[in-house]
This record gives sequence, structure tokens and C-alpha cells, in this order.
Amino acid sequence: MEDAYIINGGKPLHGQIKLSGAKNVALKVIIASLMVEGGAVLHNIPRINDVFELLNLIKALGGRAEFDKEKNTVVIDGDNINKNEVDLLFASKIRVSFMLFAPLLKKFGRCRIPNPGGCRIGARPIDRIVDGMKALGVAVRYEHDTGYYQAEMKGKPQGKFIFGKPSHTGTELLILMSIFGEGTILLENCAREPEIKDMIDFLNTSGAKIKQNGAVIEITGVATLHRSQPFAITADRNEAVTYASLAIATKGEAIISSIPEKMIDSFIVHLQAANGGYEKINDTTFRFFYKGELKATNIETEPHPGFMTDWQPNWAVLMTQAKGISLITERVFENRFSYVEELRKLGAEIEFIKPPVSNPAEYFFFNFDPVKKYNQAIKIKGPVKLHGGALTIADLRAGATLAIGALMAEGESVVNGASILERGYENFDEKVRSLGGNIVKI
Ligand code: EPU
Repeated sequence: MEDAYIINGGKPLHGQIKLSGAKNVALKVIIASLMVEGGAVLHNIPRINDVFELLNLIKALGGRAEFDKEKNTVVIDGDNINKNEVDLLFASKIRVSFMLFAPLLKKFGRCRIPNPGGCRIGARPIDRIVDGMKALGVAVRYEHDTGYYQAEMKGKPQGKFIFGKPSHTGTELLILMSIFGEGTILLENCAREPEIKDMIDFLNTSGAKIKQNGAVIEITGVATLHRSQPFAITADRNEAVTYASLAIATKGEAIISSIPEKMIDSFIVHLQAANGGYEKINDTTFRFFYKGELKATNIETEPHPGFMTDWQPNWAVLMTQAKGISLITERVFENRFSYVEELRKLGAEIEFIKPPVSNPAEYFFFNFDPVKKYNQAIKIKGPVKLHGGALTIADLRAGATLAIGALMAEGESVVNGASILERGYENFDEKVRSLGGNIVKI
């Protein structure tokens, strides 16, 4: 199986990038479509490994999931789902499989779903989500001997839930659980990522009654969902940041369309502070370019509207070219620094540091354990000229970061684990070649 990139880097990349559909909207809207009677037609679905895995899972449950890859269109219909148990194999490959609690409970009243897998960026428990389901009246039991969650719902979900700390997918799952609820269900301290709004738009245009007011979401139960019009998935803001970082890190430029500015504004603010070139061409098209030496910056990741955790790995490789010492603190996930050791192989000067944190249990968005040792901050010294090396991808966004590092570096690099990067980036090698990058998949 072709699972590595050979990259010959060291030259500025130039060109235009049309963004693909957002992974973290596509996956959720595909699952939401299973709640719609007669299913849904979805446009702008990215051809990425996570989508392929999810469609295979839906087919294994008996549902319809047809992907016209030429047109990036998917037809989803859950009406014929005849199995209420998710196989461990699928759950180990795709973390959002636990969102199937919503359609499977609606259809069968009970289901079994394994503890989810997905990217290795920390423990990633689903305790907040399980607490939320229980608050809405679902009985959930973890089977320690099998690693499965067993859930049962008698009657309609109802009530209220306040997230202790926000959860992006947790918010989405509880919205799905509440669509057909009794009366009005209130969810508080919800995540506010823009991808959630896209899923709400899909549901509301299918007949749901969901009101989002900042971190408070109110869902009034309806009897069924139907939709006659296709729904188009919005562009991927993570992809936008990756190609913007790539263009500037290689001292080139990229014109990136079609993404609303507000989806990436916290990136743009930090980029401008770092002396990265940015120009608005129109409401959804932007030029990112190298305009001279970058300045060191300090960032901390946060849930929306803060600097997004998915962007910090790309930011780190960019900061290897910034003059001075840059700091990055990861507050959302544990283990999101798998790229550090790899970038060091290219000559990057990055060290783990431990800035004092007075109240870590509040400061970090994961479930902080005082006994555990964490590596949540790094210090990057720049500018440093990178050289080629042999690298291994451990998680999705780290994968794009290593590819950027290899494209910046003089000489040849081998980046192993392309399939992990391709969980979330459509046509990555083709898009990089279109910018003039020398990358071949082997
Ligand atoms: N958490 C818990 N318990 C829970 C839920 C979350 O401890 O029940 C922790 C997580 O382990 C994490 C923090 O809370 O440390 C925040 O997690 P959240 O639930 O908000 O993240 P997610 O829904 O698992 C989604 C995206 C991520 C993105 C984050 C933040 C999808 C499929 N994934 O993850 O995307 O980084 O929100 O916006 O939507 C990626 O695309 O590379 C990616 C990791």
C-alpha cells in the first residue's frame, strides 16, 4: 500500500487553492442525515479516509451510503438500518462513531457502541457526553469486560444539561439526541465551534427546531425530519490554515478560496502579529504571502473563538522561521505535540517547557489529573534552516505539519503515514503539486 510521501523541499510554493468540504462538518452532517426520513443528498463531501470509513460503517449497519466521488456528492439514508450495534473495527478507526447513539436509539430504543477510537491526541474520554445522555433520560452502562457502551432510551429524551466543560462533538450529539425530544430541551455551556452551526443549519432546514444563542442551545422536539433540497458542506477552515501556513513557511504565496473570514479570524490576527502577509481579495478569497522575516509569537489554544487547537501544529512549523523564541501552550487536548520529535529530526530547535499554571483543572479543557505528567507547552527557537529527514506521522494535523516541514527543508524527506494525513485532507499531494511542490506518494 502506498503510505509515504517523498518530498523534495526548499523552494517557495505559489498558486491557488480551492478548499474542500470541511471534514468536521461532513462527518456530523452524514450522521445527522440518518435522522432524516428518506435521507439526504449532500454536496461538497471531501474524499478523505474518515468519510470513507464512516460510509462503510453506515453500510455495515444496513443503511444507504453512496458516494459519487467525481461530484463529491453523497446520498445517505438510514431508513433501512437493521443493526443496532457498531463493530469494534469501525469504532477503532473513526471516533465519531459514538454519534450513532442518536440515530440508533431513535430507531431501536437501545444500542451498543464501543469506546471510540480516532486520532491519538490524548485520552479523549466521552464522560461529558455520557453524563449529557443520562441527563436527558438515556440509561448508559459501560461494559468493562467488552469495552462497549450499552444505551437504552425508554420514551422521549427530555430535560436540561449543563456541560462542565464544553465539548464540540458532545454538543452535536446532544443536539441530535434532542431533536425528537419531549417539549423543549436546554443545553448550556455548549461548544461554539462554527461547524456546530452548520450542522444546526442542516437540521433546521430539515424541519428541526433548534435555537443557538452563544453557548446556550434550545431544542424543541418535532415529530420527524424531511428534506427535499441537497445540502452543501462548507469549506474546511483547517485546510485553509494548513495551506496558508505552507505558503508562508516556504516563503511563497497562496490564494485561498472559498472560506468566510470569520472562520479563520483568530489565525489571521496571530499571523499579522507574526508579520505574515495577508490580503483580502473578496469576502471569501484571501492571499497569504511571505513579506519578510516572521516575528516570534506566543499562542495558547482554546475552544472557538480562540486560536484553534487544530492549527497549533501548523503554527509551530511556521514559527521555526520566526526570529526569536515562540511559545505554544496546548490547552484543549493532551498529546498534541507528536510532531515535536519529528521536526527536531529536520533540525528544528523545539523544547518542552512547563510554564506555571495556577489552576490547571480550570485552565485546561481536558479532564486534568493532578497525578499525571503532562507536556502541554513548547518553546521554539528561530529562524532555523531545516534539512531533509525520515519522518513518521502519528496524528492528522501533525501529518500536515511534517509535510510542511519537509516542503520547507532543503533536500529529500520521507514522510511515512500518508493515510493518517489523508483522514482529513483531500488530494493533499495533488494540491501541493499544484503549488509547485515536489511531492510523490509511494
Ligand atoms: N473531553 C472529555 N470528555 C468528553 C468530551 C471531551 O474529557 O466527554 C475532552 C477532550 O478529550 C478534549 C476536550 O475535552 O481534551 C475538548 O474535546 P471536544 O469534545 O471539544 O473535541 P472533539 O469533539 O473530540 C472536535 C474535532 C477536533 C477539534 C476539536 C476542537 C471532530 C471530529 N473533531 O473534537 O478536530 O480539534 O473538536 O474544535 O469534530 C481534527 O480535525 O484534527 C480534530 C481533532
